[in-house]
Order: sequence, then structure tokens, then C-alpha cells
Amino acid sequence: MTPEQILAAITPEARDEPDSGIVKAAMYGFTKQGIIALWSGEGNLTTPEAFARPAVEALLGGETFYTWQRGIPELRDALARYHQRTFGRAFDSENFFVTSGGMQAIQTIVQLVAGAGDEIVIPTPAWPNYAGALRVSGARPVEVPMAFQNGRWTLDLDRLFDAVTPRTRGISLNSPSNPVGWTASRDELIAIRDFCRKHGIWILGDEVYTRFYYGENGETHAPSFLEICDDEEQLLLANTFSKNWAMTGWRVGWLQAPRALGPAIERIIQVNSSGTPAFLQRGCVAALDHGDQFLADQVAMARDRRDLAVSMLGNLPGIRFEVPIGAFYLFFAIEGLADSAATVHRLIDEAKVGFAPGSTFGPGGEGSLRICYLKERSTLEEALQRFANWMKVQAARQSA
Ligand SMILES: Cc1ncc(COP(=O)(O)O)c(C=O)c1O
Repeated sequence: MTPEQILAAITPEARDEPDSGIVKAAMYGFTKQGIIALWSGEGNLTTPEAFARPAVEALLGGETFYTWQRGIPELRDALARYHQRTFGRAFDSENFFVTSGGMQAIQTIVQLVAGAGDEIVIPTPAWPNYAGALRVSGARPVEVPMAFQNGRWTLDLDRLFDAVTPRTRGISLNSPSNPVGWTASRDELIAIRDFCRKHGIWILGDEVYTRFYYGENGETHAPSFLEICDDEEQLLLANTFSKNWAMTGWRVGWLQAPRALGPAIERIIQVNSSGTPAFLQRGCVAALDHGDQFLADQVAMARDRRDLAVSMLGNLPGIRFEVPIGAFYLFFAIEGLADSAATVHRLIDEAKVGFAPGSTFGPGGEGSLRICYLKERSTLEEALQRFANWMKVQAARQSA
């Protein structure tokens, strides 16, 4: 059979799903020498030994068998303790389910509530994997662009709610958001909760960046659905070890869901990954129980790098952005930029820096680029200097 015939024989959902612009940029730049990569959502630190060692010991100690579909009880208990500390109220370990990365938490959420023909409303610009997970499941992401006005991103709630139809099964909300750092206020979360309650639809929450919040009042997390919702309502929340504890390569995350969904979630996990390696989960227990200082240091570092990126990019003509109050990205528009994907490739070749193209984040994203600024100070400085030099060359060419 020809490659075309073989491709014609798989499902249209698998065949036609577009590449992530982030992955495409990374694949293009990976093998090139001397690139400073700011395309992916991860910091520069390796996982601390204090979290890695229990995992290594568990592996060597023989924890190499199939394990609990929901996650080991010790990790689910540690998740309840961590949330209790963070949010100042009691949590029940029965509401926590361990997944293979935040991505599998999202995939599980999608498989729980959205099948063929169903719609999920998503504000954009948004991390592209939500829409992708929905399309692969046969569901339809209904994207509602946020507005960038007077230097600020805003979500028009009327517009969001107007996008809900009888086919809508839920509203997806990532706050603080990747890529723009927009963070919902408590009032906005309440409005979304009340709307979803009234219409009997799900909240598909993603609070993976909730600890990376740069509020002015010393808050240790962004406004959260966990402060305003019951544990036993139509709320499904994705989270991950990846960002807080420098564990992106571990591929461990968690899902918070009503207790009644336990058996259904176990069945979905069974037919996807059949569980997350037990030895990895031992390291995650250590991260939750002993990782508060590491996390606080990472957030302080992120704030410092945000300020550096803001001052360096803020000085360049033709660049517009909102200073983000959450997550660890800077999403900036460049005057006259029409093809962000092509520009990202040019930046790899001509400036030796790796950014993510705005177009991959859906409606409202084209014309912008995204960087992850959670890097060594000198590395970030060098990358942004390279970009500034490149911009200068473009401007000189245009005026020549
Ligand atoms: C908004 C958002 N949700 C979820 C994830 C998934 O994280 P993980 O690496 O644990 O799959 C990411 C990763 O970049 C993200 O940006």
C-alpha cells in the first residue's frame, strides 16, 4: 500500500488533527546548534534530588508492577494535604485521581463529558491541546476569542455564555492562562460557576499555573474554583506536577473530580494508560510533602524573569503585550506580523532563538509570539537580546 492509502485507512480525527505549532517549532529547531529554546512551557531547573531519590529507590526496591488505577493511596493522601495547606480548607483524597501528566488529566476529562457531536466552549488564545483532545474524541471545541483592548486581555462573559448551545457539555477555563497569563477574578469564576450550575453543564478547569501568580497582595495562588465550588458538583479540574516542581519529563499529573465519578475515571484510565508508574508516584509524594520551599523559590524566580522580559521587550518598537499576572509566558504582538509560524522558523535560523507561534493558540493568536521566560537570567537576557537585534535588522530592511 502507498503511504496515502495507509493514511486514508485511519480515522479522519487522527489523520486531520493539525500539528501543535509549539511542537513543530521545537522539532524544527531541536537539532540545530546554538539555539536558545523558549518554545516549551518548562523552566531550566532539573528535578530536585529530594523528589527524585524516593522514585529511584522505589524503582530499585521493586515497585515495578501494575498499580492502582486511581494512583497510590499515599499520593492521593498527600494531594489532599497539599490542597489543605494551599487553600486552607479540608480536602478528601477520594476526590483525587493520579494521571500520566496534566495532559492525561485533560484527556480523561474530555472522555468523561464530551463525545461525538458534543461542544465545549473555550476562550482563546488557549493552549492548543484542549481543542486537539476534543477533536480527537469527535467533539467540537467552540472557540471564543478574548479581546485585547487598551493593553489588556479581557474575557467577555456574555460572549462566552452566548456560545453555549443545547449541544454544549461544558466550559473550559485555564486560569492563569497559557499563553497570555490572563487570570480570572473571583467574580468571573463565580459568574461562570453560576452559569454552569444553572444550565447543568460542566466546568472543565485547568489550574496548573495557579501557584505562579504575581498578585500585589502576597497571595500564594490565583483565584480558584476550589474556593467557590463544592467538591461534589460538576467541576473537573486538571493539574500537574510538571510546573510547580520541575517535573515535566516525569509525566505525572492529577485530576480532581466528584467522588461519584471514581469508577468511571478508573475505567477510562484503564483503557488509556492503565495507571501511572508507582515508583514515579513515590517521588511525587516527596514533592508535595517537601517541595513548598522549592516552589516558592521557583515562583520568585519566575516573577524576576517576567520583569526582565517585560523590560527588555517593552523597550522594542512595535511590540504590544499585557504584563502577565500569572503563569510564566509572555505573549506579545508584533506590529505587521502576519505569519507567526513562518516567523518562528526564521527566528530559529536567523536569530538562533526558539519561540512559539501565536497562531497555534487559536483565534486571536496570529500576529503574536510566545516565550516561556522561566530560564536562567543570563540565558533569557541573551535570547531577548538576539531577538532585539533581529528586530532592528528587520526595521532597517523595511526602511531601506
Ligand atoms: C495550560 C496547561 N495545561 C496542562 C498542561 C499539561 O501539563 P503536563 O506537562 O503535565 O502534561 C500544560 C503544559 O504545558 C499547560 O500549559
